[in-house]
Amino acid sequence: MKYNFDEIIERKGTNAVKVERCKALFGTEDVIPMWVADMDFRTPDFILDAIKKRLEHPILGYTVTPKNFYDLLTKWILDHHNWEVKKEWVGFLPGIVPGLAFAVQCLTEVQDEIIVQPPVYYPFFHVIENNNRKLIYNQLVEDEGIFKMDLADFENKITDKTKLFIFCNPHNPGGRVWTKEELQQLAAICEKHQITVVSDEVHADMVLPNQTPHTPFATISEWTKENTVTFMAPSKVFNMPGLISSSYIIPNANLRKQFAGYLEASEMNAGNIFSYVATVACYEEGEEWRKQMLEYVQGNIDYLKNFLKNEIPQIIPMIPEASFLVWLDCKALGMDTDELHKFFSLEAGLGLNKGTVFGPGGEYHLRMNVACPRRTMEQALSQLKKAIKSKVQSTNY
Ligand SMILES: Cc1ncc(COP(=O)(O)O)c(C=O)c1O
Repeated sequence: MKYNFDEIIERKGTNAVKVERCKALFGTEDVIPMWVADMDFRTPDFILDAIKKRLEHPILGYTVTPKNFYDLLTKWILDHHNWEVKKEWVGFLPGIVPGLAFAVQCLTEVQDEIIVQPPVYYPFFHVIENNNRKLIYNQLVEDEGIFKMDLADFENKITDKTKLFIFCNPHNPGGRVWTKEELQQLAAICEKHQITVVSDEVHADMVLPNQTPHTPFATISEWTKENTVTFMAPSKVFNMPGLISSSYIIPNANLRKQFAGYLEASEMNAGNIFSYVATVACYEEGEEWRKQMLEYVQGNIDYLKNFLKNEIPQIIPMIPEASFLVWLDCKALGMDTDELHKFFSLEAGLGLNKGTVFGPGGEYHLRMNVACPRRTMEQALSQLKKAIKSKVQSTNY
């Protein structure tokens, strides 16, 4: 079956964050929203149908986990990531960002230091700072058009207060799929200094065609298996993040007890009817849709890359190896980050994330979400080209 990713779907009137927050973020509602990481593609019918089918029964009472839930989930991880996960290692997590906050709360103490690698998904900062822990930056470096880790700096930043590393694997906003060698080197340092790792692998199922496969950090060594808390979810790849359906995977029984016990103590360890139903549908029926979606997104990335090269060479995209987010280097446009963001919003009519929200290294950058119909991409880039042309003309006069 050929899925249709060209369909333009109006999201106004659905309380979509992507649309409703535009005025607050961009100063106008009149932007093509290409920011928050959900897709403008239809959530696949096998998910919508599974939910509709459940709605045929008129009682939405308390629910238990479907019997085949963990079989399907562990099989998916084995098939896609070559990781043999035991069912008892896995549990329900009410969202990955909440999971990061719980990990901070139950695995560290106030004033402990936690390392992150900016520019990175900004809630990593919030869960650390809002819980009164110390945020330690190990900034990524750009090398030949991709992000690399500065492991010497990583090791230098470790003190006896450093307890945790929150890892984005694959990386957002850079789209890196870290290689096994990179992960091994990173693991060696974490092991040497006994730093527990929380590996956020929400983008794992979105490795783009012909790229190196994703490696779960916990599979790197016996030590990483015993010292990593992994988070995964079908929510992002199947475009149903509003349903909230994620899992933790913790092989080490003591670490699991600490984390799962914390969730249980707050009664936060159970999912809702629809997220269970939807997750089962994804894992049973989702593979073909996933592949076609990634091919379509790759087409959008190629389109963006060629358009920028030919029409707006001042903007240099970091080509992602996973996911649908593109990190745009706009330094050559000669504006600071705030001016850039304003220019994109108010003059080009495009709502993109401002680079500096991702922390140090985000200066002069914007993040563009390309999980949209091709026509939206075409419209967005033509608006951008026009705005840049008139800016150049007005500066020349
Ligand atoms: C790295 C990363 N982690 C977590 C999330 C969000 O996860 P959740 O919606 O389950 O909190 C995102 C969304 O963009 C993300 O990029």
